[in-house]
Order: sequence, then C-alpha cells, then structure tokens
Amino acid sequence: MSAETWDSIADWYAEKLRSGSALHDFARDLLLDALPGDLTGHGVLDVGCGEGIITRAVAARGAASHGIDPSERLIEYARAAEKARPAGVKYAVDDGRTLATIADASMDWVTAGLAYNNVPDLPAAFAAARRVLKPGGGLAFTVPHPCFEAPRASWTPDGQRLVGDYLDEGFWRSANATGVRRAGNQHRTIASYAMGLVMCGFTIDLVSEPAPNARILAEQPRRAGLPPFLLIAARMG
Ligand SMILES: C[S@@+](CC[C@H](N)C(=O)[O-])C[C@H]1O[C@@H](n2cnc3c(N)ncnc32)[C@H](O)[C@@H]1O
Repeated sequence: MSAETWDSIADWYAEKLRSGSALHDFARDLLLDALPGDLTGHGVLDVGCGEGIITRAVAARGAASHGIDPSERLIEYARAAEKARPAGVKYAVDDGRTLATIADASMDWVTAGLAYNNVPDLPAAFAAARRVLKPGGGLAFTVPHPCFEAPRASWTPDGQRLVGDYLDEGFWRSANATGVRRAGNQHRTIASYAMGLVMCGFTIDLVSEPAPNARILAEQPRRAGLPPFLLIAARMG
C-alpha cells in the first residue's frame, strides 16, 4: 500500500472532526481566542483549512472568510458544508507556501490551525502570509505542541510521556495506522517557529500553551499536565 497523504485520509479526518473531536475543538477555540471577537469587515484567510473547522467559526464572527488547502478532497468537504449551510466562505485548492490564489495585501488576518506543521518550507509559508496581509495585519497559528509531539514520542505503560527526538527537525511519518501523523508531519522546534517569524519581519504578540480541558482529559487522562498545542500570534512589523 502506498504512503498515506492528506487526500487519502481526508474522508477519515473529516468524519473524525464532524463526529466531535475534543482535541480539534480545543485547538479551534485556542486559535479563535487570539482573534478579535467581532471580525465584521475583516478579511481572514485560513491556511490549511481542511474541511473548514476554522473558516466556519471565523465567518460566524462576521469575517469575510477564505480557506485554502492543497487537499482537493478536504476542499470538497469544506465546499459541501458551505453549500449545506451558506456562510459566504470562499475556498480554493492552494499551497501555504505560495498562496497563489490570494492577492497581495488583501487580508487582515491569516490563521493556520494545525497546518504549518504539515508545510515543508516554513520561511516560504511565513513570507506568503506576509505578502497577503495588509500592513499591520496579524498571523495566528496553532501546531501540535512541538515538545510533546516530536518524532518518536511515545507513552510508557504507566502513562508518562517520553519526548522522543525533539531536535530532529524535518519530515517524519507516524507508524500509528489510526493517527493523524500517518500522513506525515514536519517537526520543528519552538525556536524555529519563533525565529522564523522574526526573520520574516513579524513581531510576536502572544505565545500560549494551555493545559488540556476537562473534555480532553475525560478521553485521555494521561495528557494531564501536558499542553497539547502551541499557539503563536504575531503582527507584521
Ligand atoms: C491537521 S490538518 C488541519 C486542518 C484544519 N485546519 C483543522 O484544524 O482541522 C492539516 C492540514 O494541513 C494541510 N496541508 C498540508 N500541506 C499543506 C501546505 N503545503 N499548505 C497548506 N496546507 C497544507 C492538509 O491538507 C490538512 O488539511
């Protein structure tokens, strides 16, 4: 069997989110908390939008919401949801490294929920986000917490997290046949994310790594004390 891709696991991923995933709902809300409550009149682009979990929430706050993703199958899911419940969200098949479908200086915010850890060239992705942002625009993104979701991270039999290879940056694929990272993942240290922003001319406004909520802990008690996600928000300097 050939290696999994985001297209090949798209049906599984869309079903997982739509049947209610505590971790993905938590990640969505963490990202939304970094944005203004009222986005009326704001253009927001969600990079790596998947089936649209962030774009729909942003549209509900009044934004002109746009989503791009290279997975044609996930964009099909996003468009089907838009057709079923129109919210004015516009979707395109595109790559976060180029954002070829998005005009220069057209967005007030760029968001990326659990997506930049799938993009091979982070400097290109940050430069593309910078290009499409208006002066003073903001970039907010979440990634699986790099310290606790590193390559070859594992659990001991008594539920302790073993970090794995935190400094081993680059592409890796999980052997877990039922996990998201079977489609591969680009691991980076926190310093690489932070310095990538600085080198691209962003000013970091917010870094957050909150504890898992009660819903996550009810499903996965061993995650207690470990932040599942890292959020960074930055502004064009
Ligand atoms: C974990 S999913 C997150 C999807 C959605 N943001 C969410 O929160 O459910 C990762 C997404 O990154 C997308 N992705 C992979 N490579 C990408 C790239 N080069 N540019 C933008 N997105 C990419 C995948 O297709 C997938 O939809």
